[in-house]
Amino acid sequence: MTEPTHRPPRRISPADVLAQDTSNTAHLPGAGTKHRVLSGMQPSGDSLHLGNYLGALVNWVKVQEEFDAFFFIPDLHAITTPQDPEAVRHRTRNTAAQFIAGGIDPEKSVLFVQSQVPEHAQLAWVLMCMTGMGEAERMTQFKDKAAKQGTESAGVGLLAYPMLMAADILLYQPHGVPVGDDQRQHVELTRDLAQRFNSRHGETFVVPSGFYPENGARIYDLQHPTAKMSKSADSPNGLINLLDEPKVTAKRIKSAVTDDGTEVRFDREAKPGVSNLLSIFAAVTDRSIPELEEAYVGKMYGHLKVDLAEAVVERLTPIRTRALELLDDPAELDRLLDHGAAKARAVAAPVLAEVYSKSGFLTPSR
Ligand code: TYM
Repeated sequence: MTEPTHRPPRRISPADVLAQDTSNTAHLPGAGTKHRVLSGMQPSGDSLHLGNYLGALVNWVKVQEEFDAFFFIPDLHAITTPQDPEAVRHRTRNTAAQFIAGGIDPEKSVLFVQSQVPEHAQLAWVLMCMTGMGEAERMTQFKDKAAKQGTESAGVGLLAYPMLMAADILLYQPHGVPVGDDQRQHVELTRDLAQRFNSRHGETFVVPSGFYPENGARIYDLQHPTAKMSKSADSPNGLINLLDEPKVTAKRIKSAVTDDGTEVRFDREAKPGVSNLLSIFAAVTDRSIPELEEAYVGKMYGHLKVDLAEAVVERLTPIRTRALELLDDPAELDRLLDHGAAKARAVAAPVLAEVYSKSGFLTPSR
């Protein structure tokens, strides 16, 4: 039997993050003694997809129990390409509703919208001035998106995006950033920028660690199982959306592209389609991949798809129902987000003030 080619990403468990010593960072502005996590998800589609859910949201729900957790909707990031303003507003509420329906409790976690905390854009400028052009141009996501649009017509925001993301993180002094594998390079840049600022101006930022899930760190498109599941996919058929009707979800799983042969086995190189289905299955049921391989010995791909469709629909239906209920009351969602933004600013403002002061800016009298 061929060895599985899947190499798991470096994982940081909550226990590892807890094991970090904060005694030397607790004095930094905005850094409390309780360990903190922060993450965000763009409001760039009409629904979150299964990659967002398994790669990030599931983990967020777990960590909010043990950490001082901050989750936000990076709406400033959503305008790197031209957008209809009404659609941005709608998607922002829509994303907030899915966070809550997926298990984020606004009483336990600080839930907010990026544009309501102006310190994000303010810190981003300082970080942009500390980033080399080559460093920014090396970001894979920038290269992919610029190649798609043509570098000449791509907005400068696309290049500046990772520095805004670094600002999003560093303003809150988190120890852990729970994200999917595709954000690894951005988290590494954030660490570099934090260290660079600290070495130029003295200890200021906590240097955060990426926190990647065990299963679901990268979910692939059902029709193109070597490309990550993404809102910007050319066709919706490879996507599972949290807000889709259950019958659409089941149909897409049953029509997922599989591979030559019949054996249900995890092998990312030789069997990307089946491997992706197994990863999703493991993540939605909390069963391990070897356990699933064992359960499908002698069975066909069709069996796997039918069972997986059932498991995914069972997992997503209550989230969809709750999100749609929340969206019926946008004023209440806005109130929750407003409250979250006030809590976020209380942490972000002193960190920015420290950075501005260390950068040589005069302190305003009010
Ligand atoms: P975004 O909005 O593209 O994705 C949100 C989260 O979902 C994860 N994800 C996936 N995980 C597994 N498989 C997939 N196919 C998949 N697609 C997306 C992402 O890894 C991410 O965790 N730049 C960020 C948003 C951001 C952010 C931040 C995140 C802005 N500022 C600060 C953390 C901290 C982004 O575009 O994620």
